[in-house]
Order: sequence, then C-alpha cells, then structure tokens
Amino acid sequence: MSIQFCSENSLFTLHTQNTTYQMKVGPYGYLIHLYYGARLAEGDDLSRLFFPLDRSFSGNPNEAGYDRSFSIDVQPMEYSMFGCSDYRSSCLIPVNPDGTREADLRYVSHTIENGAAAPDGLPHVYDNGGEAETLRIRLADPVSGLAVTLVYTVFESRDAITRYAVIENGTSGRVELEKALSACLDFTHGEYDVITFWGRHCFERAVERTPVRHGKIVSDSLRGASSHQQNPFMILCDHDATETAGECWGMSLIYSGNFIAECEYDQLWQTRLTMGIHPHAFRWVLEQGECFTTPEVAMIYSGDGLGELSRRYHRLYRNNLCRGEYKTARRPILINNWEATYFGFDDDKLVKIAEDASKLGIELLVMDDGWFGKREDDTTGLGDWFVNTNKLHGGLDSLCRRVNSLGMKLGIWFEPEMISEDSDLYRAHPEWCLRGPGRAGVRSRHQFVLDMSRQDVREYLFETISAVLSSANLEYVKWDMNRHISNIYSGALPAERQGEVYHRYILGVYDLMERLTSAFPHVLFEGCSGGGGRFDAGMLYYTPQIWCSDDTDAIERLSIQYGTSFGYPISAVGSHVSAVPNHQTGRSTPMATRGIVAMSGTFGYELDINKMSAEEKDIIRQQVEDCKRVYELISDGDYYRLSDPFANHNYTAWQFTAPDQSRALLNVVQVKMEVCPVPFVIRLRGLDPEARYEVKPNSLNAVVREESCGVYSGASLMKAGLLIPLMKGDYAAAQYEINRV
Ligand code: DGJ
Repeated sequence: MSIQFCSENSLFTLHTQNTTYQMKVGPYGYLIHLYYGARLAEGDDLSRLFFPLDRSFSGNPNEAGYDRSFSIDVQPMEYSMFGCSDYRSSCLIPVNPDGTREADLRYVSHTIENGAAAPDGLPHVYDNGGEAETLRIRLADPVSGLAVTLVYTVFESRDAITRYAVIENGTSGRVELEKALSACLDFTHGEYDVITFWGRHCFERAVERTPVRHGKIVSDSLRGASSHQQNPFMILCDHDATETAGECWGMSLIYSGNFIAECEYDQLWQTRLTMGIHPHAFRWVLEQGECFTTPEVAMIYSGDGLGELSRRYHRLYRNNLCRGEYKTARRPILINNWEATYFGFDDDKLVKIAEDASKLGIELLVMDDGWFGKREDDTTGLGDWFVNTNKLHGGLDSLCRRVNSLGMKLGIWFEPEMISEDSDLYRAHPEWCLRGPGRAGVRSRHQFVLDMSRQDVREYLFETISAVLSSANLEYVKWDMNRHISNIYSGALPAERQGEVYHRYILGVYDLMERLTSAFPHVLFEGCSGGGGRFDAGMLYYTPQIWCSDDTDAIERLSIQYGTSFGYPISAVGSHVSAVPNHQTGRSTPMATRGIVAMSGTFGYELDINKMSAEEKDIIRQQVEDCKRVYELISDGDYYRLSDPFANHNYTAWQFTAPDQSRALLNVVQVKMEVCPVPFVIRLRGLDPEARYEVKPNSLNAVVREESCGVYSGASLMKAGLLIPLMKGDYAAAQYEINRV
C-alpha cells in the first residue's frame, strides 16, 4: 500500500520507492502538511514537528477562543486558502454568493482507491496498470458549503506524486473563483535555492538559480501559452545541491496555458511553493453544484541531486504521460523542408529532397508551412486548410505516393489555432477571432488567434484537418502556434464569463488534439510553437515530441537542450541538423558537431539536401546509421548532464546510459578552443563500477582520435574519468560509444 491512513492520529502517509509525503488532519480540522522528502520508516509520524505557538498578527480560528497558539498563517498548509488569515500565497480565492472572499476549508472525509486519477478534460499522468494508487481528501467550508477535493496519485515505482484539486460549489448560489491553483508545498525549515526556466524565442529554458529570499520569486506566463519566456516547471533545492548530490523538489504543471509558479519565503523562514493557472484575467463562474478541476502538478523529490530529479521526470513522462504508438515505437529520422525552402517549394522540389534523403536512410519528409490556401508568405492563408494546387500540382495524394514510392513517409504542417486576415476563413467568420467588440485586434506575425473555446471553431478544424489527413497517406503532423494571445474575449460567452476564456481556450485545444490523435492513431504528432514556446508537460500528453527551438545552431542548442532536460525527456526534444552558416546565428559548425547535438533528441535534418556535397552526404548516411544503432540509448537511456554550458565556456558534455548499464554514449562539444589548452577529463556517471567497458570514438567525431580508445573499469571511468584527446578548433566534437565487455 503506497497510501496509508492512520485514524488514531489522522495521518496520511504516501510512500514511493524512495520518498515519503505526509500530512495530517490538525487542529480544528485543518489539513496540515508535515513532510515531503526521503523515504521514512513504516509508522514514522512527523506530527512531532508540528509547532503551535502564539504569533502576533497571525489570527486564530474563532473556535480557539482565547487560545492563540494555532494560526494557519504560520502552519504548513496542504492547500492554502484566502480569507481566514493565511496571509501567504493562497491557492484558492472564491467569491461566495454573499460577496465574501473566504474559504475556510476543513477536513470532511477521504477515500483511497487503486489506479490513477484523471482530471476532467485535462492532460495527466496515467497508470499503465497496477502502478498507482489515489487518495481523495474532501475539505469543505462549513459556513459557505464550498468544497475542495484534493486528489493525489502515488506512482510508487516512479517516485512521483501527482495532485490536483476539484472545487465544488456546494453553496446556496453562484460562486466565482478568482484564483484556483493546483498545489501548495510548504517547508517549515531549510534554506534553499529556487531554479526557474526563462527565455525568449530562439533561446528557451535558460536555467536561472537564485537563493530563496524573503518575499516571492515568481515564474509565470500571461501569454495564453506556457511560453518561451517562462516554463511551468520549478525546482527547489539545497543551496549546495549539485547534479549528483543534495535534496531537490520539482513541481511540474501539466498545462499549456497561463500559469503561475511562486516561491515564497515567509517571516519564519518557511518556504511555500504554489503552482497552477495564473489568477490574473481568470474568473471562473460556478453555478450551484458545478465543479472546477485544476490542472495536475507532478511532484518529484530526489535526495541525490538534480540529475536524479530529471531522470525521474524523464521516466515518468516517457512512460506515463506520452501516449500513442510512438510512445515506444522508434521515431522516424526526418527531413523538414522549412530551412531548405521556406515558402518557396512545389511538389517537384519536395520529391527531389526526398530522393536524396531516401538514399541516405532518412525515413520521413515533413512538408512545413506553405502548402495550403494562397500562402506564399506569412501574411495569408491560415485557416484555409486546403491544398494549394499551384504548388502541389497533382494534389496531396499524388505527392504522398511519389514520396512513399521512394520508401519514405510524408508528414505535414498545420497551425490550427490561427487565422490570417487574408483567408477565406476570415472572410467567412471574422467573429471566430479572439478579440473584444469594436476592437480591431493586435496582429502578431500578421495573424489573429481563433477562439478555441468555441465548439463551432473546433468542429471546423476537426473536419478540415481530418479531411486533409484522410486524403493521403500522411504519417506525421507538426502542430505549430506562432503567436501569443492578446485581446482576450470570446464572442460566444457573456460578459461575466470572459474571465474563463484563457482556460477555455486551452481546454478547447486539448479537446481538438484528443479528437485528432484518437481519430488518427498511426500519425506521429509533433508539438511546436515558434520552436519551443509550448514545451510543457500538457502538450506531451498529445504530442510525444516537441520542436525544441527555432534556433538550430548547434552551439546555441547546447544550452537550450541542457535547460530543457531538467524537466523533460530527451525523447521529446525535437532537434535537427541544419545548414551552415546557420540561418539564425550565421555560425558555421562541423557537420559532425551538428549531428552529435541533434542526435540528443528526435533526430532529423532541416536543410536542402540537394545542395549537399558528396562528402556531406556520406556523413549524413553515417549519422543516420549511427543514430539508428544508438536510438534506444538516447530515447530510453538515463541522461546525465556532465557539465553546465552556462558556467563552462570551454566544453559541454552529456551522457546516456542504458538502464542495465551495459552501454553508454558520451558526447563532448568543444565550445571554445584555447592555445595551451587544459585537457578535458570527463568523469562518467551511472556505469557499473565493477564492469569493464570498451570506449570507442564513433564516426560522429569532428576530430576522430584514437587516444582515448581502450578498455577501462566502470569505477575508473567514473572516479578518475576519461581524458578527451585534444580537439583542434572551436566547435569540434566527439562522441564515444562505451560498451560493457
Ligand atoms: C515556426 C516553427 O518553429 C518553424 O519550424 C516553422 O514551422 C515555421 N513556424 C513555419 O511558419
């Protein structure tokens, strides 16, 4: 039993293989958080850490009479609520029918059941069968009747606990929720750092680590998408936590819309993390008896540093979040025509790319933006999901047959959530855009956003996209989103419900994605939003891979992919070899280096292969072969960050190790060459210390050198390290295959 309730002391204990989470029904029925950390022994009760004390300016429940020792303002709360004197970040602010803003939630009952919980209409971590147990704790405000059920699912073998809240209007009238977060995690002691992930277009998920300070550290998005700018993932860790040691706690929101993640340090040096839908521009109307379900948060603890925290997230998301045939099937090595042609292509050009690509072992051609409507550039056509026969002369089916006859699959690009003013769809349905009455609306990339909260909009998209996908043997879809939301307003909702539109928008996106992925189970869906602008756990439920960034420069990708790896599996990271000089940075890097970097993700190419020299094509052939050979290691192996590209400006190194420790793959990119260089000695991780391993540089080396070949013990590779032979030149790189002998 991973979930235990001890009625004698009203204690809930949630055990995973290596962690324990504990809470109890405390004084006056408040649900008090006690502990989240390394696994405790059976029967351990941390109520002893509960410390009631009179604190001035912290109020006491009315029933306490003259006893001033208990205040929810200073106790660790399981779900913080506004209005009853917890002045720290609250999860819940209701406006009750009588106008009061108060939720005084007390324990009512609980249930424990097998299996995982599933928040209504929202992406979530699921049970593969017998892996999970769920606890539901019902709290209610005895005066208003508002009830909240806290839902926890424990994935014992994955060391993960997910949680969300269901808020039920049990009052005598209408309630409006001004804030309804998913989770709160309180720490009564300890000094920590907080890690957040910020960025911008072409520079996503940069790692920022700061000591927790009094007040709040906030990471959030009000862009209608999880965004390039902040990511819905936050880590709290010891000041001295490293990749391999120290305590750390992750909170990852399985959601793709506006979010907030806060870390608050209070008057008593207590830390509170909260996470959920951003309360700004949020106001949800709940009629009597209705429920609101928050998105799910996946919590993971590691006592062995940040590396293990990430690996636990990788395993959880790979196995219990990603779905569909391509959850386990090898993803095809693809070539995408975007950077090869941009909008300037026709069917003959695509077939020419496919001809060369197929000869080199590439398996899928992705036809990117520009195949539909009258789209010759980014000013027109979005919404008109009909083949442009001026470009695809014989239509889609004919193109598909030509590509298939070369032994390759064909994939296609959509940007379903958008509309161009110059489109038939806009001319027919200007009211389908998100924008307020009388407002012209802000353009971004020349486009407007469709109101995905509307059933008729979703119906149109489902019908038109389905028609395209049924018209030919299409086996892949790239689902793009190239602007953020402004002018939030839905013509389909009354004024008092406009605060629901951001959330209804993303529920609508999920609904459409669910319908399409179910209707086309053989199609591989890849998420995208101007690169990695919606790289979040919500999207991974529908798309097992996401284009990581529009920045395809191998050196820039080192830090983008490094940051992404903290919370998301490598199997989800869309990554391609592109041409040099790189289109975004103008930098030239060796083909081998580009291959090594792109291979640490879902491998592919994004260049005009027809323009490649014979020598470059040979390298591509070899890379494709290598990628197929080491595929499982990359997609299912344990990932180790061996250096921090934000701190180490000489090289970046990372490693994959098979779960059974039989093989590993070491990757090293020299970012900057120095005269009189200091040799790189890299200590490997995750090997069997007792085993002996053969270390061999493979063909993916910018500078192939034999010096570091040999057979060494796992212990010596991990404790003493591997000397990387000198590599001449900026951006040289090496990849080593390491096999147990
Ligand atoms: C943004 C994507 O990230 C690119 O890869 C490409 O698909 C363009 N959109 C097309 O408009």
